[in-house]
Amino acid sequence: MRNLIDIQDLSTTEIEELIGVAEDIIENPKKYAEACHGKKLATLFFEPSTRTRLSFEAAMYELGGNVLSVTDALSSSAAKGESVADTAKTVSCYADIIAMRHPKEGAPLVASLNASIPVINAGDGGHNHPTQTLADILTIHREKGHFEGLTVGFCGDLKFGRTVHSLISALSRYAGIHIVLISPAELKLPSYIKKDVLQKNGIPYEQTTDLLAVMPELDILYMTRVQKERFFNEEDYLRLRDSYILTPDKLKTAKADLSILHPLPRVNEIAVAIDDDPRAVYFKQVKNGKYMRMALILKLLEVVL
Ligand code: CP
Repeated sequence: MRNLIDIQDLSTTEIEELIGVAEDIIENPKKYAEACHGKKLATLFFEPSTRTRLSFEAAMYELGGNVLSVTDALSSSAAKGESVADTAKTVSCYADIIAMRHPKEGAPLVASLNASIPVINAGDGGHNHPTQTLADILTIHREKGHFEGLTVGFCGDLKFGRTVHSLISALSRYAGIHIVLISPAELKLPSYIKKDVLQKNGIPYEQTTDLLAVMPELDILYMTRVQKERFFNEEDYLRLRDSYILTPDKLKTAKADLSILHPLPRVNEIAVAIDDDPRAVYFKQVKNGKYMRMALILKLLEVVL
């Protein structure tokens, strides 16, 4: 039985297979319409979500399956003190696969060690978000056709941004990747990721606070929201929240074929005026998330068509 807790749980070949299945789902949705008939996905979300939970649920419905859902921490027996382990054992009695979001880093891993069905990490604290990475990877693949040799800029809250941590981990497999880390000093990428992922894999990277200075070199610009919910004090959040606001004039020196990604939700960091720029692909990214989650559910449930 397989789980997806960290993007490194998937080999490069498996990620490429998931891209292939997602592309086939996009081309031939009817082929997959009954693939999970009789199967149930439990979405256990102990933190807010729009895209991840709904795209998992849409994915399961479009595969012909059904969904059981915990939509917030207060609506389950977690509010009465039930442990993640007991929740996982219980849900294993009702469902065939779990997607779990939790504010505590490592909670989906604990669930996977106690469940008798596959567990997918749908975001754990400021740690990892591997299925967002699958959405990001498919988006980059569809926009660029390759990963090798790309210069990828990550901008915003690189400290608490779990989507950034997982995508850097995934991209570190590809030759010629160059990472540009753009953040305020207080929101730099954690040292353990620089050491264990970038330096360990020999990935060249630079750190800067100046988005405009590096804009011309970027093939991908991955904007992120400052993660209010991870701050210990409101004053620091208010001081840092508008560190980067992407506006059309800031794109004047950008490449004509730049791709602008954002895991969303957006707060203030990309002006709405950019949405009509063909380089803005964040709503395509939302849709790609559903297709990759469909491919992942098929893989973990070992559905063979
Ligand atoms: N990208 C993402 O995880 O969005 P939600 O928080 O809405 O699920």
